[in-house]
Amino acid sequence: MNLPGVIPRPSRSRETEGHFRLDRPLTIFCETEPSPAEQLRSWLRERNVSAELGGSPSTAQIVIERSSSSTTQQFAIGQSSSSGQTSDGYQLRITPDRIRISSAEESGAFYALQTLRQLLPLKPTDDASLPCLVIEDEPRFSWRGLHLDVARHFFPSEYVMHVLDWMAMHKLNRFHWHLTEDQGWRIEIPSYPKLTEIGAWRRGASGERYGGFYTLDEIARVVDLAQSLHIEVVPEIEMPGHAQAALAAYPHLSCTGGPFEVWTDWGISDEVYCAGNEDVFAFLQSVLQTVLDVFPGDYVHLGADECPKRRWKSCPKCQARMKAEGLADEAELQSHFMKRMAGFLASRGRKAIGWDEILEGGVPAGTVVMSWRGTDGGVAAARAGHDVIMTPNSHVYFDYKHSEDDVLGRLGVTPLETVYGFEPVPASLVADKARRVLGSQANVWTEGIETEADFEHLVFPRLCALAEVVWSGPERDWTDFRRRLRDHGARLDAAGIRYFRDPTVWLPDR
Ligand code: ACM
Ligand code: ZN
Repeated sequence: MNLPGVIPRPSRSRETEGHFRLDRPLTIFCETEPSPAEQLRSWLRERNVSAELGGSPSTAQIVIERSSSSTTQQFAIGQSSSSGQTSDGYQLRITPDRIRISSAEESGAFYALQTLRQLLPLKPTDDASLPCLVIEDEPRFSWRGLHLDVARHFFPSEYVMHVLDWMAMHKLNRFHWHLTEDQGWRIEIPSYPKLTEIGAWRRGASGERYGGFYTLDEIARVVDLAQSLHIEVVPEIEMPGHAQAALAAYPHLSCTGGPFEVWTDWGISDEVYCAGNEDVFAFLQSVLQTVLDVFPGDYVHLGADECPKRRWKSCPKCQARMKAEGLADEAELQSHFMKRMAGFLASRGRKAIGWDEILEGGVPAGTVVMSWRGTDGGVAAARAGHDVIMTPNSHVYFDYKHSEDDVLGRLGVTPLETVYGFEPVPASLVADKARRVLGSQANVWTEGIETEADFEHLVFPRLCALAEVVWSGPERDWTDFRRRLRDHGARLDAAGIRYFRDPTVWLPDR
């Protein structure tokens, strides 16, 4: 069935007879939680469809009926048809008299509404109607994410909230917030105020002061919004490398004692936390405790990528630590460092995530591995019994250019069709290990991004393709995707997203 441009493509859908007309008043009956019904009512009102909220039927159902006096309102009763549904799954049934959403959990009803939102006409029209249909849908992966580097380019929290809304529209559910870097520290930590007094600001390209940070109140507001959108926010605090902004604020946490400035270059700084200094561990535990207090999710990302070992090699404290712990080399020293910090999270009931370098020197037990230098690290980690998230820079680095002649983007080229063709489970992983692949996410690094429009140009419509990779099944149909994306473009426009009008999609023939 050719659904009008629903993205990501639902698992199963079929058209049935007739239409549900939107030109008469509606009543929405909803589960105990009123917010989805209110959201739906506001979408309908934007389209001049008047909708009232009615009583509450059984759990996790939303029923929309036309309330014309000639129709007897049938209350849809019975349990949600949830038996076969996974937690984010749902059924959406549109008949001439009634729209009915059922799901095992609230998140499923939420995703059903996202689908319905895409089926609604974009603008008020006199003869608006919806085609009758049945959609049964569920995601392929539980991890459907977007990573945003807010250190190289700072995005205010209001903008981050728009990004969350755009993610939810595409049924994405993990926002990986990259909060610390060589070039800026972006989260208020009351016990270490210089992190934001000093670490949040750098000399900009023309000598101006550049930067910013999120207060804990702002973070709480972002987390609240995310929860209402069924998105888990995954904070990242980088260690042991990518730490120069923190060291500019507290130079005694380095091997050399500094002084340092918040870095103004791109690349990988040699200045890293000293792995032989107990103050570093006390500092990072205090930082992480604040992070745990404001981020209620299961996961915290600890970085672990790209940590040069140069300072450690000539640091007496680091060398003494290696000797005392019987560590063969600096890779094992990094592993020792990460094991302590992952252990701290585990002792507080949270799970650590690390970039794939965390495999070097021995990966901490229970750590989730985020594979970025291709998928080999993820395969090795899955074989060793770790959960993995596949984010190879060959397919899902959205800071790369759309095409060779794109004005924006850096380091590589990743066309839309490459993103769309990404398969997160490598064929080399057999069934029980394949289950270790939680999903995927797009990574957006912001060295080459100067404005919000730049971000939107690089991220859309590639994020639409990623949504399909992580939500829809493994089958791909590029022609059908392009057709749906052309419809979807109008929706991106309506949301105010300044997306790249990719010529492989928006020109009739290539
Ligand atoms: C990374 O791109 N350095 C994880
Ligand atoms: Zn040291």
